[in-house]
Amino acid sequence: MRIIVQNTKCQGHARCASHAPHIFKLDDTGYILPGNIEVAEGEEVTASRGARSCPERALKLDRE
Ligand code: F3S
Repeated sequence: MRIIVQNTKCQGHARCASHAPHIFKLDDTGYILPGNIEVAEGEEVTASRGARSCPERALKLDRE
């Protein structure tokens, strides 16, 4: 599973990182770092929760 990061939508709410700081890495100003995120096996549920918590819908799940 992969998370597609849409940086232009991120407003720095940091809810993603509050669910899973080891998956959703933020920069010094609290915005998500650019680049899609490859989710490790066993982390899918946590990653999904974090992605769905974003009020700006900046994080899309890609289950391919
Ligand atoms: Fe940004 Fe959404 Fe996370 S606004 S910091 S991607 S909760």
